[in-house]
Amino acid sequence: MLQLNPHLNDLVSDAHAGLMSTLQAKANITAAAPGRVNLIGEHIDYCDGFVMPFAIDRYVVIAGRANGTSEARIATALGNEITNFSVKPLLTPATPEWSNYIRGVVRGFQDRGHHIPGFDAYILSSVPGGAGLSSSAALECAMATFLEGLLDTTLQTREKALLCQKAEHDFAHVPCGIMDQYASAFGKTNRLVLIDCHSGDPELVPFENPDLTVLISNTMVHHQLSDGGYALRRKHTEDGLKLIGKSSWREVSMEDVEANWDTLGDPINRRARHVVGEITRTQHAAKALARNDFEALGPLMAASHDSLRDDFEVSCKELDIMVDIARRIGRIGGVIGARMTGGGFGGSTVTLCQSNKAADIAHTLATEYAKATGIQPQIFASRPSKGAHLVIPGH
Ligand code: GLA
Repeated sequence: MLQLNPHLNDLVSDAHAGLMSTLQAKANITAAAPGRVNLIGEHIDYCDGFVMPFAIDRYVVIAGRANGTSEARIATALGNEITNFSVKPLLTPATPEWSNYIRGVVRGFQDRGHHIPGFDAYILSSVPGGAGLSSSAALECAMATFLEGLLDTTLQTREKALLCQKAEHDFAHVPCGIMDQYASAFGKTNRLVLIDCHSGDPELVPFENPDLTVLISNTMVHHQLSDGGYALRRKHTEDGLKLIGKSSWREVSMEDVEANWDTLGDPINRRARHVVGEITRTQHAAKALARNDFEALGPLMAASHDSLRDDFEVSCKELDIMVDIARRIGRIGGVIGARMTGGGFGGSTVTLCQSNKAADIAHTLATEYAKATGIQPQIFASRPSKGAHLVIPGH
């Protein structure tokens, strides 16, 4: 039942072969960037909160080379037609839609004064799309890393993440926070990326206990509501902060939310309760994890899910079903905690569990979920992995 993660070396070989067969070019630059899963701290990266994601061992790989022209020629493993565009003018959003992640990142380099030479590139991915695992941030960070190789330059990691976030804002029109691009750019083997979104400082927190496994369960549903729903949630939090009269959510207490409950009105008061509660839960979760206190961690993950479902209203029936199955398995069956992960409205859940029971848990999650929904989920385990990097052949 547990799906295996394709090995990065195999993805790299496939990307090289793909470039050769589609564009008849031999790659001399290969970039890889991972997706992410978030353990806790949801929908608060744009509220100056704390979030605790890690880079998963699922990657977007881009293999390519300079082609001596002023055109980008891009092929993908999805078998789309080859996409061509000139990289001479300052780029603006265009079609096909997926190419905007590439165009937006190229534009970020142009804005920093770089002249972009024409290039051929082949893109493939083992990050499931639309699954709340940041396949778009992985594509942006892989592209930024590829351009670093092409231009023989290196951006500071933070600057690279911010450049990619701007591409998402301006070219994909998603007003996302910083979590996904930070996790993909800063990720490290055996480390969580605990981000203080107020200061913008990531802290790499050890996560190497072999007795712990993180299961990712992709519900295989993606409700279209997500597009407008995300921006609307972000607006609710901005409006809420203004009404409370503080300049940052970090200065807002639960007492402030309660005192302003009627002024805020529904649903902004519930959105505010989520933000303030989730910031505290994430700080507690980081401490609980550091002292291996799973009795504390499980309820924090559960409360996070309930708050996202009831107060922030970004869960959906399928995510709730998957989380409920994990809850029913419980501590006795090896489950430490479970919750939805990522933007919501579909996508995936994250289940922290005992490694020796992970295969059984994955089996139960898959069979019970299929029984309840008629949908076969995709379930895999993931460990914190290396962030965006240039792949050196033979290493
Ligand atoms: C999406 C966004 C992130 C974050 C999460 C929710 O993944 O891109 O910035 O807001 O949703 O935690």
